[in-house]
Amino acid sequence: FLSTIPEGPPDAILGIAEAFKSCTDERKVNVCVGAYRDSTGKPWILPSVRQAEERLLADSSVNKEYAPIAGDSKYVELALKFAYGSDADLSSVAGVQSLSGTGACRIGGHFLSKFVPKPEGLAAVPILIPNPTWGNHISIFRECGMDVRRYRYYDSKTNRLDYDGLMADLKEAPNGSVILLHACAHNPTGCDPTMDQWKSISDLIKTKSHHVFFDSAYQGFASGDAEADAAALRFFVSEGHNIVLAQSFAKNFGLYGERTGTLSVVCNSPEEKSAVMSQLKLIIRPMYSSPPIHGSSIVKTVLTDDALTTEYYANCKEMADRIRSMRMRLVEVLRDVGSTHDWSHVTSQIGMFAFTGMSSEMCDQLTSKYSIFLTRDGRISLAGLNEGNIEYVARAIHDVTDG
Ligand code: LMR
Repeated sequence: FLSTIPEGPPDAILGIAEAFKSCTDERKVNVCVGAYRDSTGKPWILPSVRQAEERLLADSSVNKEYAPIAGDSKYVELALKFAYGSDADLSSVAGVQSLSGTGACRIGGHFLSKFVPKPEGLAAVPILIPNPTWGNHISIFRECGMDVRRYRYYDSKTNRLDYDGLMADLKEAPNGSVILLHACAHNPTGCDPTMDQWKSISDLIKTKSHHVFFDSAYQGFASGDAEADAAALRFFVSEGHNIVLAQSFAKNFGLYGERTGTLSVVCNSPEEKSAVMSQLKLIIRPMYSSPPIHGSSIVKTVLTDDALTTEYYANCKEMADRIRSMRMRLVEVLRDVGSTHDWSHVTSQIGMFAFTGMSSEMCDQLTSKYSIFLTRDGRISLAGLNEGNIEYVARAIHDVTDG
């Protein structure tokens, strides 16, 4: 049967990262994957993370035993306080450790697919995902057996949030659908609803009896303050939504390869929490048994020590600040090299990416002519820019857009 297997397409994000690795052009620039790089273009281990690792290494009580199915409960508690607030009451929140954000979405998708009542006449639970969104969302929820649909999110004519389109599509969806929302720093557009818009979205979701799935992959990268960036999801909880939350520590702790996250479900009572926990464990056990322990031990070590926590917040802000300065610089240098194009949308976006509005053809030209690797939706990971390559990238963008 092996000879009948067709070649699958490369991944829209990680496939490009692989192409970057094998490119031999000395000029090559990687602005594809959303992974932080320092001002010299190198991956950065946060000093607070490094110190936590040193402590773990020196601690003779640390071992390599299996974690429980739901992960390290102390880590989960700290992670949930990081998301829901240090004074949040977690007695009715079911939470499990996950393999970063992807793993969390996968557990959450399975759970919803299994337990959300299907709207009348539908064979699968509908989930509405923003258009555009992180490319992996579509495959994840499809693999979970959900009926993946889209809602309008971005108006490429105005380069702004398509708020009216979003509201119309949520209204039109069958009552009781699952709505996927990016908690902050929407990937790839960098456009988030305002607090007033979040309020109206929350009201509409209530009227329609929809279910809310928050994906929080960039807490700390929108404003530079991890507390402030949790405002939308905390607001939804305060409004009584039984949210499902996927939380990743890949970006904000720089723990990409450690696969560290959580999946949580806000329930109405400790009894509901207990039942939901038992079901989440039944999903996890046949999938990968139990999660890896190194990344969660790091997060736990940082968040149980006041000095390390303070240092961590400063480290997170340093990343967010550098990215923000690259956003401003990119637009400034584009102007300096002669671009007459309106790039004001790039400076009003937030988070790790610039959603430039370049077409797939322009992106392809950037790659073939200049060895600049980016996703074909025109998204640039600003963390890949530094003073050493920004003019080269700006000149290339100018060439393919105005040139
Ligand atoms: C991205 O959007 O580039 C990141 O979330 C990395 C990934 O896994 O795609």
